[in-house]
Parts: sequence; structure tokens; C-alpha cells
Amino acid sequence: MDGGNHSVVSEFLLLGLTNSWRIQILLFLFFTVFYVASMLGNLLIVLTIISDHHLHSPMYFLLANLSFIDTGVSSIATPKMIYDLFRKHKVISLNGCITQMFFIHTVGGTEMVLLIVMAYDRYIAICKPLHYLTIMSLRMCIVLLALAWIIGLIHSVAQLAFVVNLPFCGANKMDSFYCDFPRFIKLACTDTYRLEFLVTANSGFISMATFFILIVSYIFILVTVRKHSSGASSKALSTLSAHITVVVFFFGPCIIVYVWPFPTLPIDKFLAIFDAIITPSMNPVIYTLRNKEMKVAMRRLFARALSFIDSLRDSN
Ligand SMILES: *[C@@H]1O[C@H](CO)[C@@H](O)[C@H](O)[C@H]1NC(C)=O
Repeated sequence: MDGGNHSVVSEFLLLGLTNSWRIQILLFLFFTVFYVASMLGNLLIVLTIISDHHLHSPMYFLLANLSFIDTGVSSIATPKMIYDLFRKHKVISLNGCITQMFFIHTVGGTEMVLLIVMAYDRYIAICKPLHYLTIMSLRMCIVLLALAWIIGLIHSVAQLAFVVNLPFCGANKMDSFYCDFPRFIKLACTDTYRLEFLVTANSGFISMATFFILIVSYIFILVTVRKHSSGASSKALSTLSAHITVVVFFFGPCIIVYVWPFPTLPIDKFLAIFDAIITPSMNPVIYTLRNKEMKVAMRRLFARALSFIDSLRDSN
């Protein structure tokens, strides 16, 4: 045993998504558009919610936090992937790789817990409306958010701790566009069976468990809404269906990537595109295009921005 300190490999070769020049140009356009849209859309949501006191309620605070996390999710792998598309040798250093895995799992784990918190928030709002503001106080929101970040961090570090010292001594081709545990572990020159099991157990478990909790809570809420069908229920239904859409798009790919027994499927690197870029850019669309209060608030924000620009012009 050499303790893994003599690794020869100091960087990995990412094979990317395809070799075809034409498809790469298409991917370049596709990813750039999605990335820019995702950043702008999510930042606009955060800005709108923070600046508009009509939206200072738990649901919108959680939504702003989700958008904030989504800017992180889409910035971990995508900018490098876009930059790499036209490079012949797409390399990433060992430390770069570990950093990517750390952030993917911290932010991803936090987002999963946040989705549960958002489902809980909807449950209280719909099933216990009279107690909503006392239960979901600002303090409660902050505690739940802190909890989400702590769980995300533990989830990430608990896997990273086992792989930071892995020895690498030759194999360095990673058939993906970013680093993640399943393929990273495969490249180590040691018996990795237990590590693979650990990652499946940890990442697989958190994805499956969260997905299961969310689906059960949403079914429960839907049943409750139908029982007390009142005027508010169609609005509740549209909010709920937005949440459920996000959940399915986020967890579908995750579950396939982590829960699928090894060896890794070739298709999962394409599915990873969903979690890396498509899902984070869909949240703004799903939440704002369907939400009247958000649309009104955004119009107010634009009106204020315009009058601010006018006042600057007048003072010159
Ligand atoms: C997240 O939520 C907290 C409290 O619920 C709020 O004060 C904060 O502004 C939110 N953060 C973002 C980035 O929206």
C-alpha cells in the first residue's frame, strides 16, 4: 500500500459528448442559449422576489433560493463544457475534477432537500392554511434552508472523503463532459468495488428517497386539495403541477445515473445534460410563466428600472 500519494495521473481527458464537428456546433449553440437563458432567468427571479415586498412570503423566499441554487447548478459544468467543445484535448486537472464533484454534490444535495422543504411549505399552505404564517415563519425558513445546505455538504463530503486519496496510475480517459463519482472511481488503479457501492448507496439513496418523499407528499396534497375543492384549489393545482414537473425532470436523470447498477451506461452522459443545464433553466419558465403574482412583480421591476434610467438621463 502506498497510501495513494504516488499518483502519476494529474489530469484527466474528458471525451465530451461527440466527435462530429457539425453536432458540436449545434451543441455549442444549444448550450450557450440554455446557459445564458438559465442565468438571466434565475437571476431575474431572485432580483424580482428580493426587491418586491409583495413577494416576501415563505413560498417566494424558497423559490428565490431555488433559483439561486440553480444558477450554481448550471455554472458548475456548463461553462467549461462550452469552452471545451472546440478544444481538441479537453483536459481537467485532478483537483479540478474533485472540485467539480464537490460542488455538484453539495449544490445538488441541497437542491434535493430544498425541494422537500418546498413541498412541506405547500403542504402547510394547503392543508393547514390558518396556521401557515405561524408555522412557516421567517425563522423556520432560515432553519430549513440552513438544514438543506448542511445536508448537501455532508452528502458531498461523505463521498469525497473516500475518493480524494485514490491512486491513479495510467487510465485517464473519462467518457463524459464533466467529472462525477461513477466514472472517476472507475479510473483508479485499485479495487473499487466497495467505493462504487458506497456511491450508489449514498447518491442513489438520496435521489431515490427524496424522489419518493416528494411524490408521496404531492399525492397527499393533491388528494387533500380535491377533498376540499374550493375556489383556491385551481391555483393550488397549478402551483403543484409546476413543482411536480420540476421534480420529475430533476430526479429522472439522477436516478438513472446513480441507481443504475454498474457498469455505467453510455446514455447517462447525455441524461446528465438535463441536470447540468436543462432543468435549471426550466425552473424560471415553469414558475414565472404560470404565476400571475410573479409576472406582475416583474412588470413592476421593469417599470422601476425604466424610471431609474430616465432619472439618470434627466440629471445629466
Ligand atoms: C433565501 O431565503 C431567505 C429566508 O427565507 C431569504 O432571506 C433570502 O433572501 C433568500 N435568498 C435568496 C438568494 O433569495
